[in-house]
Amino acid sequence: MGKFPQNFLWGGATAANQYEGAYNLDGKGLSVQDVTPKGGVPAKPGDRNPLITDGPTPDNLKLEGIDFYHRYKEDIALFAEMGFKVYRTSIAWSRIFPNGDELEPNEAGLQFYDNLFDELAKYGIEPLITLSHYETPLHLARQYNGWANRDLIGFYERYVRTVFTRYRDKVKYWLTFNEINSVLHAPFMSGGIATPAEELSKQDLYQAVHHELVASALATKIGHEINPDFKIGCMVLAMPAYPMTPKPEDVLAAREFENQNYLFSDIHVRGKYPAYINRFFKENGIEIQFAPGDKELLAENTVDFISFSYYMSVVAAHDPENYSSGRGNLLGGIMNPHLASSEWGWQIDPVGLRLVLNSFYDRYQLPLFIVENGLGAKDVLVDGPNGPTVEDDYRIDYLKQHLQQVGEALEDGVELLGYTTWGCIDLVSASTAELSKRYGFIYVDRNDDGSGTLARYKKKSFDWYKEVIATNGDSLYQD
Ligand code: BG6
Repeated sequence: MGKFPQNFLWGGATAANQYEGAYNLDGKGLSVQDVTPKGGVPAKPGDRNPLITDGPTPDNLKLEGIDFYHRYKEDIALFAEMGFKVYRTSIAWSRIFPNGDELEPNEAGLQFYDNLFDELAKYGIEPLITLSHYETPLHLARQYNGWANRDLIGFYERYVRTVFTRYRDKVKYWLTFNEINSVLHAPFMSGGIATPAEELSKQDLYQAVHHELVASALATKIGHEINPDFKIGCMVLAMPAYPMTPKPEDVLAAREFENQNYLFSDIHVRGKYPAYINRFFKENGIEIQFAPGDKELLAENTVDFISFSYYMSVVAAHDPENYSSGRGNLLGGIMNPHLASSEWGWQIDPVGLRLVLNSFYDRYQLPLFIVENGLGAKDVLVDGPNGPTVEDDYRIDYLKQHLQQVGEALEDGVELLGYTTWGCIDLVSASTAELSKRYGFIYVDRNDDGSGTLARYKKKSFDWYKEVIATNGDSLYQD
């Protein structure tokens, strides 16, 4: 009881490309998401070559999303009804710089986010804004090969300077890149890198990582110059790895898996590459090219807080071929026999969240922010006393168990700024481009074939979360 701090930021999270729609309105350019084929992200080598796509893919649900662009007032009113203190979304880079390499921004795009932030302010909801959430302008992917090219740093710099200046008094919390470590696994979606994954060398991939890390430090520098009160964080996909057995080799494999992710938070927080990565670089023939000033930029512009998504843990072994592997959020891994899985094979592990919180806090002693967590599930709309609804007890159970572990971590001494559930309103899945993989407290009437009225309905979890927020988490401990 009473574990959550008084000013705890409760809320929900979304991303522009997964719900705004209006992909070509008011001057918006195409982003890499607008050419996502039905069936989802090209996460595997050979899935497709984005360069052969001339325009938006017509059956792509992301083009219309859930039409938040036109319905944002109605949706924000629902978030306010749940009592949100914070709302995470992203700015679509290609709404502000349609091609990404223009000198002047698109005023209509800027105006949209002014309206959005003003609407949030009406209800006292704090915006938490991701600057780049898997939505690199497509032109930057085609012409420059995305973040593989150092020129992206300059384009990103112009974009972030523009939005930091414009929203200097409207937004305080910023995240530089969504799940920055995911570029290792989905180079096109995450980094706008057009080279097909199977042809991309490790050298080019890690050089792209370096460009993003430098850009993140530069954004942190510029943001703090524009408004010293800005709180700027990194955002990583967090995934604890358990050894398959107590064999030291398996423990080492788990450590190495985690180091691939820690690399990103270590550089953001400590301002330099960690020693453990040198051997990996050496053995893989990787030599990161530092431009003059990169080292100092990284060292002098570390983040104010660490944010992360958490959906699942993984299991690692030195001989993974001897075990059955599961599906999972971009990274995948060996199936854990002790855990249940979602309908999409993501293994459900609330204690893993407590572990992640403790590991990050112990490692860095910086405030943390859980900016994504939730259950993607197939919902069935049924008639309720107040109209159509969804009896989503499975989602309530999932969130309750995870939040109780957050409570444990707070007792452990972790400093946590807030918690935003992923997809607080149903939106298009990032990995599978489906609408039927629903995370929301609010059901949106749109189906995988694109049909539906786009009407919004409150699920059972809507009132449940409202109560959690109203009691500042105390209701999690009442049955
Ligand atoms: C995270 C992303 O990896 O997971 C989100 O930041 C994404 O964009 C979320 O939507 C859930 O994944 P999915 O594939 O179920 O949409």
